[in-house]
Formats: sequence, structure tokens, C-alpha cells
Amino acid sequence: MQRLKTIKGTHDILPGDIHRWQQIETVLRRVFEVYAYREIRTPVFENTALFARGVGEFSDIVSKEMYTFTDKGGESLTLRPELTASVARSFIQHHFQQDAPLHKLWYMGPLFRQERPQAGRQRQFHQFGIEVIGSPYPEADAEVITVACRIYRELGLKHWELQINSIGSPDTRKHYIEILKKTLDPYKKDLCDTCRERFEGNILRLFDCKNPECAEVMQTKAPSILDHLSDEDSRHFEEVKALLSALQIEFTINPALVRGLDYYTRTTFEIKGTALGAQDALCGGGRYDGLISDLDGPETPAVGFAAGMERLVIAMEAEHLFDQQEKSIDLYIAPMNKDHLLAVMPLINRLREKGFIVHAELLRRSVKAMLRDANRQNTRWTAVVGDLELEKKELNLKNMRDNTQQTLSWEKVENVLTQNPE
Ligand code: HAM
Repeated sequence: MQRLKTIKGTHDILPGDIHRWQQIETVLRRVFEVYAYREIRTPVFENTALFARGVGEFSDIVSKEMYTFTDKGGESLTLRPELTASVARSFIQHHFQQDAPLHKLWYMGPLFRQERPQAGRQRQFHQFGIEVIGSPYPEADAEVITVACRIYRELGLKHWELQINSIGSPDTRKHYIEILKKTLDPYKKDLCDTCRERFEGNILRLFDCKNPECAEVMQTKAPSILDHLSDEDSRHFEEVKALLSALQIEFTINPALVRGLDYYTRTTFEIKGTALGAQDALCGGGRYDGLISDLDGPETPAVGFAAGMERLVIAMEAEHLFDQQEKSIDLYIAPMNKDHLLAVMPLINRLREKGFIVHAELLRRSVKAMLRDANRQNTRWTAVVGDLELEKKELNLKNMRDNTQQTLSWEKVENVLTQNPE
């Protein structure tokens, strides 16, 4: 019989690891809140057309990586491979633009891409991100980039680098693509099969090829898009850079940073983990002024980023940034038998209502077995409950850190528990 286990490229996040995720999530929520972003949650699956039209049919995501299926009603549905298109769909569907001229949204959740799994690349992975919808101004680009940087800084991460670029408006890009094709045509024969295939339909992706010969051609022969920006594109990019400098955010300019999704206009950026392996993009984003109108919504400029949780967990582990342990149990009650447990339940309930973490026995084990378990579980105090404790309404608390003991009335137990914060 086939043993049931997780699907290739998916992982359980086990109880022993979850505190790492929660540590990150607490910081994320705080940062999004202080920048006045509001949370949005969209469904995990959407109409396939949303991603085909939004992300672009020739992108790797849409052409190769989507989990698409036909449901029983005959509709083509897709497990979301990214969240920007879903947020744009929601913005249009709920007429956000009628409520306010600017919407600052954040999200967190699972995404699905059928890629070849490796360290830092899963088929189900998790992103957090933000989308600022409504502002065409460089201040919005700068704020989005700042929020991303603030998160990594606040988490204590040291080994990362911000790269920015501008890929101009669609007209600029059309013109640049023509120049790129003309310039690279004589070197087409030196390129790998994939790049030769992409030459006509998606030549910008040649910048992402890891093949050394292709990289050599692109580095030495390809003109820089920054030399072909329109005046307005250039002004926008200069202002983004000036704002980042004023905010004391360090960046490098990478004219090869074109990003693999079709909706970008002008600013693109990525934060690379400098101690990560091949999958080094911690986060990526940029401006997408045409997406909402391409999806039949009103002309609405927007900018955002999304970041991978799994890669961040790997990066933080490498820099030893996680708190050492899961939360400890404040009090482990070890009743001699099930009747003692029932009788001490009012005390257990009261302590839990006050917010203490209290373990009550569910396995009817011997006192010896329970105390062994308490030791294993990172417990601060244990108390054995027998006839005497019930009769006197007392607990004999044993401090598991220094092995001292003290006997207290049930009313006073919480004073001792609060006295000893972790
Ligand atoms: P993306 O570059 O496709 O952009 O993904 C953003 C981040 O998600 C990556 O930098 C990486 O950290 C993480 N990521 C992507 N694929 C995987 C994977 N298979 N396994 C693990 N992590 C992964 C977007 O998704 C855009 N929606 C970002 C955006 C928001 N642009 C504007 N607004």
C-alpha cells in the first residue's frame, strides 16, 4: 500500500518549528501596522484567466508553473501562483477606488508554483507582501522599498542587499527591446537553446539566464535600459533614488533586473540574501501601472513587493536570529488520579483564564511518568496533586529551574507564577 506523505515540493511546518514563523509574523504585523497598511485575504484559487492576463502568458509562471485544473462545473481554475493579480482583481471587483484615492494593503499566505524543488524553492511556499494602489508618484515606490528593508532590519538580518532598476514605461520598453534585438542578433548563435527560444517573444528574460556564455553576452554586449529611458521615466527613477538616499537606504543599481512577471512598469527591485545559495531573492517587487486597467479596471497606478517566508527562515537560521525555544509551560499539574484532576480543574481553569500556560494530564499516567514528561517539555513549575493538596486547597510548587519547592494556597499560586517571567 502506498504510504501517504506530503507532495513533492511541499512541507509541513511542524509544531517544533512554528515559533520561528510566529517570531517573523509578529514583526511583520507590527511593521505593516506602523506604516498604516490594512490586511487583505483573497481566495487560494481563482479563474485561470486572471493570471494568464495579469502575470502574462509568456512568463515562466503562467507558461510552465501553474497548478491549473478544471472543476466539476467545467471552469478552468488555478491555485494562485502570486498575489498581486488577486489583489488587483479584488480592488476592481469591490470598487475600492470609490472609497478612497489610495489603498495600502498587506497580505500573507500560501502560493503554488510547479517548479523544480530545491533549497529555498518549494511548490507550495508562503509570501508576505504589500501593494500600494492609487499613487503614480515616486514617494510610493520609495515607501514600498523602505517597508521591505525595514522588515529585514527589524528582524536583525545582516546579509542582504537591495538592488533597484527602472524598466521604463511600455513605450520605452518596446523601443528598448527593438534595440536589444538588433544589438544581440549577431550573438544569437552563442546563446543557449532557451535564450534563442526567448529571443523573439521575451528577450528581456535573457538577463536572467544563468548559463555563463549567455551571461557573458548580456554583460558585455547588451545595452543598458537605463540609457534608453524616456525623460519622464528618468525623472521618476531619479526621484526614487533621491528619496531612498534621503531615507538612508543603501542600494545598488542593476540594469539587468527586469523581473519575470509581465506587469512591471518603471521601478523594479529585489532584495538578495547575500548568504543564500542559488535561490537568493528574498523579495521582489516594483511598479505596475498598467495591471489594473489590463484587467478591465480603472486606470490605476500601483506598486508593491512580495517576499518569500521559507527563504527568510533559511536566512535567519544561518544568522542564528531565532529565539532558542518554544514558549515554556508555566505550570504542569500532575494529579495522582483522574478524580484529583477533576477536583483541581477549577484552579486550572482560573489560571488559564488569567493567561498562564497550564498543562493538565490527559493520559492518566503515573506521577513519575508525568514528571519525566514535564522535564522534557520545558516547564517552569510542576505540582503533584493528591488527597492532601485537595483537602488543604494547597499546591506544592516545584521550581524546575533550581529545584526549590514552596507550598502555597490555591489563591496565591498565581503570585508565584507571575514572579518569575521568562
Ligand atoms: P516573485 O519574484 O515571483 O514576485 O516572488 C516574490 C518572492 O517570493 C521571491 O523573491 C521569493 O522570495 C519568493 N518565491 C517565489 N517563488 C518561490 C518558490 N517557488 N519557493 C519559495 N519562495 C518563492 C511576485 O510574486 C510578485 N507578485 C511581487 C510583487 C508584488 N510585485 C508587485 N507587487
